[in-house]
Amino acid sequence: MNKMKKEAISVKNLTYTHPDGTKALEGASLEVYEGERVAIVGPNGAGKTTFLLHLNGILRGSGQVEVFGKKVDKEKKEEIIKEVGIVFQDPDDQLFMPTLFDDLAFGPINMGLKEDEVRERVEKTILSLGLMGYENRCPHHLSGGEKKKAALAAVMSMEPKILVLDEPTANLDPKSREELIKIVNDLNEREGITVVMATHDVNAIPALADRVFVLNKRVVAEGTAQEIFSDGALMKANNLEVPEVFKLFEVLRCFGYNCEELPLSIDKAIEHLTRTAEVNGGHIHLHIHEHMHDKVKKLRSEYKHH
Ligand SMILES: Nc1ncnc2c1ncn2[C@@H]1O[C@H](COP(=O)(O)OP(=O)(O)OP(=O)(O)O)[C@@H](O)[C@H]1O
Ligand SMILES: [Mg+2]
Repeated sequence: MNKMKKEAISVKNLTYTHPDGTKALEGASLEVYEGERVAIVGPNGAGKTTFLLHLNGILRGSGQVEVFGKKVDKEKKEEIIKEVGIVFQDPDDQLFMPTLFDDLAFGPINMGLKEDEVRERVEKTILSLGLMGYENRCPHHLSGGEKKKAALAAVMSMEPKILVLDEPTANLDPKSREELIKIVNDLNEREGITVVMATHDVNAIPALADRVFVLNKRVVAEGTAQEIFSDGALMKANNLEVPEVFKLFEVLRCFGYNCEELPLSIDKAIEHLTRTAEVNGGHIHLHIHEHMHDKVKKLRSEYKHH
């Protein structure tokens, strides 16, 4: 991760008002380094989708958006589209050809690849996403989860250097969700692809992101998942949730469990429990004490968003 710290994306002071007058972004700034995986979180309507659509010039607001040091503007649109692939929140916005094969071939054809190169790209993408047998299916007749995968495939067939994903795990069953996480991480590890995603799936963030940005019209916080999730006031102010396992360990702490850094994933929880048991003669000690019920009650109320 960001060994050389070369900037892949640099956004400065981005402001955008939709044509009907809705202010979606007001001075958003962030940078993403090459090879990094970042998650953008924030409440509904915070401007996440609007922000992502600026990364390849679909939308253009005031401020500065640069990709690998190049300004995203009209003149460079073709070049930028090759480098930044956006998987839309709604797959119906991405798939419009009569067959899945055609949808996957569309990008590479437009990039000017030769017929056999296009075929090769499409076949490679179909294999890597497990979409064998779907080549001749009509994208509009696929299920929600299948469409989601097909939309990712349509972008991957262009082999972008930066993969932008808008709610990639939404509507996926647990197996497809796991697969998606693996696909994205493999692309990042093996091919060094930079990943930027907007997501409400807080349980997927620890497995998918090196860094997290909280966006609420502008970037209000930035840090590791651990830092962001540990900031209760920030979470509440932005309608954000922490992973379930994190909440459970907060409750365990009320029962006297000693834990400085609360785990964000089941694997981390297992590590923590094992370590605690090892230093305590194979046992984990929990107890009920005087103010425990009040503490738990207070904790529970902190997670209610009214
Ligand atoms: N095409 C549009 N025309 C007018 N307003 C829009 C348009 N698209 C989005 N908006 C508004 O811009 C604001 C930001 O919307 P956006 O879709 O970027 O939010 P989001 O953070 O992606 O939300 P969600 O978590 O629900 O996906 C909202 O107030 C929304 O109503
Ligand atoms: Mg959105």
